[in-house]
Amino acid sequence: MTLPASRRLDRLPGYPLADMPRLRRELRAAGVDVIDLGAGDADLAPPPAAVSALQAAVEDPAMSRYPFQLGLPAFREAVAAFMSARFGVSVDPFDEVLPLIGSKEGIAHLAFALLDRGDAAVLPDPGYQAYRGGVVLAGAEPYLVPLRPEHDFLIPLEGLADVHDRMRMLVLNYPNNPTAADAPVDYLQRCVDFCAAHGAALVHDHAYSEIAFDGYRPPSILEMDGARDVAIEFHSLSKTYNMTGWRIGWAVGNRDVIARLSRVKTFVDTGVFLGVQAAGAAALEVWESWVPGNVRVFRERRDAAVEALREVGFDARAPRATMYLWIPVPGGEASEAFARRALVDEGVVVLPGSSLGAGGEGFFRIALTEGPERLRVAARRLGRVARFE
Ligand SMILES: Cc1ncc(COP(=O)(O)O)c(C=O)c1O
Repeated sequence: MTLPASRRLDRLPGYPLADMPRLRRELRAAGVDVIDLGAGDADLAPPPAAVSALQAAVEDPAMSRYPFQLGLPAFREAVAAFMSARFGVSVDPFDEVLPLIGSKEGIAHLAFALLDRGDAAVLPDPGYQAYRGGVVLAGAEPYLVPLRPEHDFLIPLEGLADVHDRMRMLVLNYPNNPTAADAPVDYLQRCVDFCAAHGAALVHDHAYSEIAFDGYRPPSILEMDGARDVAIEFHSLSKTYNMTGWRIGWAVGNRDVIARLSRVKTFVDTGVFLGVQAAGAAALEVWESWVPGNVRVFRERRDAAVEALREVGFDARAPRATMYLWIPVPGGEASEAFARRALVDEGVVVLPGSSLGAGGEGFFRIALTEGPERLRVAARRLGRVARFE
């Protein structure tokens, strides 16, 4: 008997790394020392302040009740205080902020709030899977634009003429996963103006806003003129605070879009555990004192990895932000084949560029999720995979 499956499922791409965990498990069971630089999930600890806040919260019965979409007012207020201190952006904690079960959840659900069949969302390719996933599951059209080095990994707005009539949403993500590119302020401003001119929502995924180096401070889209009329921005505590598994983030921006997203969520979830929201507020409160140390760890890793990769022959460049390196696959080999050989022959997990969209072909991604020494070992092993002369 064949049970039903929606046709939308067939339109979803394969999930990257789907068979990597099995391969990795088999290799580890066979005694191979696997270095996993695949997922953006660091081996580092969350801030002690967040841990203590969660510990206290589980002792408080009030924290065990349904959060609903309002959630913990203290979390919303901590978000508003952070947006003001970090970006100089003042937001209403109740009408312009929405707690999320990780930013991925909000990003995917946003498509249900904004798009109908026949509508298109302009998405970066390669790009984080939830963009395409949400749009396809909502029954709308993902319009993929390749991010290429010759355009500094930006979406060229001039190339979108044939989608203007049905474009309802433009998704940007700078600092970018996976290319590690950042966007100049004048480009972000042009995106705001472009969306305003075409009646589209501008969605900025800012998951890596705080992981930036060498004095670079990624701006919020809400700092641009007119952004409040068209933009919504997604933030995450996952990478900034090493809290990937806690599942907490927020959306901030245009109040109508926030209200629509909240309405969708009312029908599909009941909010983030209040204890995790208390921990999130505690993390945001130690932002200025705690985050720089964490960023320093990523910078040391970036420098060690870039140096070691260059030494063995890769064209590795040091990005100004994110926890990733985006490296050309040597010798014109397909990125998937290269990544498979890296795992099977040398026990190193990297992400093939094509797994985040056809536009990522020709590159592979390394996540800075292990310490400098392990990254150096990984670089030497990858050098053997690449067979540089
Ligand atoms: C670009 C980007 N956006 C969003 C997320 C989701 O983060 P979370 O759902 O953990 O907040 C990730 C996670 O890898 C990401 O890389």
